[in-house]
Amino acid sequence: MFSKNFYITTPIYYPSGRPHMGHAYSSIIADIFARFKRIDEYSVMFLTGTDEHGLKMQREAEKKSKDTKLFCDELSLTFKDLTKTLNLSNDDFIRTTEKRHYKAVEEIWNRLVKSKDIYLSKYNGWYSVSDEAYYDEDEIETKDNIKCAKISGSKVEWVEEESYFFKLSGWQDKLLKFYENNPKFILPLSRRNEVVQFVKKGLKDLSVSRTSFSWGIPVPKNSKHVIYVWLDALTNYLSALNFPNTEDKKYKRFWPATVHIIGKDILRFHAIYWPAFLMAAKVPLPQRVYGHGWILSDEKKMSKSLGNILDPITIITNYGIDQLRYYLAKEVSLGNDGNISLESLKNCINNDLANNYGNLCQRVFSFVNKNCNSKIPSFGKFQSEDTQLSNEIIKQIPNLKKLMDNQDLNLYIKELINFSFNANKYFNDLEPWSLKKTNSERMNTVLYNILNQIRSISILLHPIIPDSTNKALDILGIKKEDRVISKIANLKFLKPGNIIKKANILFKKIENDN
Ligand code: ME8
Ligand code: MG
Repeated sequence: MFSKNFYITTPIYYPSGRPHMGHAYSSIIADIFARFKRIDEYSVMFLTGTDEHGLKMQREAEKKSKDTKLFCDELSLTFKDLTKTLNLSNDDFIRTTEKRHYKAVEEIWNRLVKSKDIYLSKYNGWYSVSDEAYYDEDEIETKDNIKCAKISGSKVEWVEEESYFFKLSGWQDKLLKFYENNPKFILPLSRRNEVVQFVKKGLKDLSVSRTSFSWGIPVPKNSKHVIYVWLDALTNYLSALNFPNTEDKKYKRFWPATVHIIGKDILRFHAIYWPAFLMAAKVPLPQRVYGHGWILSDEKKMSKSLGNILDPITIITNYGIDQLRYYLAKEVSLGNDGNISLESLKNCINNDLANNYGNLCQRVFSFVNKNCNSKIPSFGKFQSEDTQLSNEIIKQIPNLKKLMDNQDLNLYIKELINFSFNANKYFNDLEPWSLKKTNSERMNTVLYNILNQIRSISILLHPIIPDSTNKALDILGIKKEDRVISKIANLKFLKPGNIIKKANILFKKIENDN
């Protein structure tokens, strides 16, 4: 039997600073896919959390003269709060300082030792604490007398210490074979090509433990070492399913993961190291890694030092969470870098939300309130223009599902906004206000049909703007369990005579006051 299970993850965030728009973006995107699968009646597991070990966290805590664990507790909470602020529907929030996570990481480590993929040696090379990544000589450049990683610009330091290594070099051919047999393992395709090229150039063994600091999971049987923070962090995706208990219900239902949503800067870890670790540990591989682009402001990656930050919390306070969710999902082309600005945010809210979907709901609901006694009217025979409108959505449903399965979020939104545009046009063209005088039965049918169309559009827009669509669906009196795609095809779903509650404006237009 085909099982409809869907496991999606965000990266687990370093809680070392305040959450920024890049964090918000990764999370919102993943939340949209999770919510979409829920309205498609999948069993969904959506995971996020915090990545708390490593030298970066230890140093930040030292700078503030705080106990590292207490420091992590505080900062992890700000990220947990963020999940509420962003209206994320995550089913779990994992912290790498939790016991359940230690168990999983230790098991992976032991399996790698058992398979002889780990050996003890000495590491000499460059390390970026900010990226928690090792770099080769040719990945380094000198800027203002400071050695930096070319790819991220972050400072590197020389490390020389005893270290355990993972035999990554031995997995090169198997990885290439895996990419070949699973052409959609890495999406978008441009990122897949990058990874394949990189692996073809040859892989070196990877240092997977450190001795010069202590903030991490100790290596089993050699606690002088702590496990490299990436081997630790990646395993979170398994810990949340109670691995190593492979008989656990969650593990059985949700592993292998359907898709890891990540930013392009951490592609190498997810698309190369992670599958190699898993193959070596004899754990089935996830189905997909999707690497989204960066959020830019004035063409530059947003960063605190550049001072070009659009703060997600400020935006949400000023404009609303659905507004931010919609804007990020619509304006940024998912696989690519995308520029954001206050001006384009305002335009997007006005054009798509206030003037299009919001206006549709507003005008139809208030017309029904005024002219039908606030009740869903009864309907007569549907005419071709009526079914043409509703069929437009029904026919597209298989395609909409396919788009979301391929993470083609921008196209999905484009379709929906088009449905909403056409529904507005239908209302304009059929002029229920004129029909009221000439043919009230026809008016009722038109209103019934457009109320139904609002139901369908709201269900499909729900993953993106959950609060606002819930308001619309509440007004229509749709029960929670009926807010699912499978009910869209029923054109007679609404019960004539049921009350249409009085509506408040869903999306206020933003006046340009500066
Ligand atoms: O990398 N635009 O955590 P992190 C878009 N702990 N995305 C951005 C961004 C921007 N300007 N800035 C950051 C880590 N991101 C690890 C993950 S997973 C096992 C461990 C994205 O807090 C970035 O690409 O540094 C990454 O996907 C995520 O934010 C977390 O970054
Ligand atoms: Mg980062």
